[in-house]
Amino acid sequence: MSEKRKSIKKIGVFTSGGDAPGMNAAVRAVTRAALANKLEVYGIRRGYQGMIEGDIIRLYSHDVSHIMNLGGTFLQTARSSEFRTEEGRAKAYQHLKEFGIDAVVVIGGDGSFRGALDFTQEYDIPFVGIPGTIDNDMYGTDYTIGFDTALNTVIQAVDKIKDTASSHGRIFFVEVMGREAGQLALNAGIACGAEVIFIPEIHSEEVELEKFLSKGFKNKKYSGIVMVAEGDTAGGAFKIAEKVQIKHPEIEVRVSILGHMQRGGSPSAVDRIAATQMGVAAVEALLDDQKSVMIGLKNDSIVHVPLQKVVKMNRGVDNNMLNLQKVINSV
Ligand code: F6P
Repeated sequence: MSEKRKSIKKIGVFTSGGDAPGMNAAVRAVTRAALANKLEVYGIRRGYQGMIEGDIIRLYSHDVSHIMNLGGTFLQTARSSEFRTEEGRAKAYQHLKEFGIDAVVVIGGDGSFRGALDFTQEYDIPFVGIPGTIDNDMYGTDYTIGFDTALNTVIQAVDKIKDTASSHGRIFFVEVMGREAGQLALNAGIACGAEVIFIPEIHSEEVELEKFLSKGFKNKKYSGIVMVAEGDTAGGAFKIAEKVQIKHPEIEVRVSILGHMQRGGSPSAVDRIAATQMGVAAVEALLDDQKSVMIGLKNDSIVHVPLQKVVKMNRGVDNNMLNLQKVINSV
């Protein structure tokens, strides 16, 4: 162990923002990797809010046994508005000092990383981030923990919707989560064979939908799935469906908003493995004196991306995926 590696003795770990399947596996990996390096580990409950309130518990190896398969986060999570204030962050710092925590791993999305940056600009406690969100919307990583499970949840739900859609000859508008990002809708749409996919990053879907309705639907199909990202600029599944109904009263349309069921469930193998890789890498990064970086996965390899960059840059959508959708639905 190098001199640098001796400087950290107690590490804190917490989950923040929207929960995502695989967060438990990440906490487990962080805990076990830290213990393996002879560090003490502290779980901060309810995200930044728990840090502000000193809701902090010591974690031992057995505390993270049998949690890998569970959805949600056993440390619980929160979106803390108090942490956005200087006073809130000062209280959080006092509690970290009280417990002697000298480095922290935050598992969450870009809002959580913004909080980490604000804090580390004011206080000298290093933070390393692990991307955990079903939205897969973060710059610098191909993958965020929770995305694969959520994607599979959406696919299972839409497969069922397709049964009833085809039985009745209806068009279903299925709205999925993702905030301002279209990753979940685009990938789910491709995996479910959706006829049209509305995502915030693209603005030509209404034209595509009209093409499908006026040609495709009448000629070759009797039912269809239109996947809509919740952040799409066309105004959401209900609004789009309403417009279609007015223009094509002969078509039967239905809307299904999948909602928070997308965030639950036992994590997939992909999420468990990614969470384990990133959890171990986060502890290694802190031991190597890194700070304010996110652990990401690029082409299946671990990368360290400055948090400043992660919160500033947009991930965008993959043009290859958009092209796939175009080709498949062009005939
Ligand atoms: O960021 C994850 C996410 O599930 C988004 O897809 C969604 O817009 C948001 O969180 C919902 O947040 P909440 O659970 O606070 O309503």
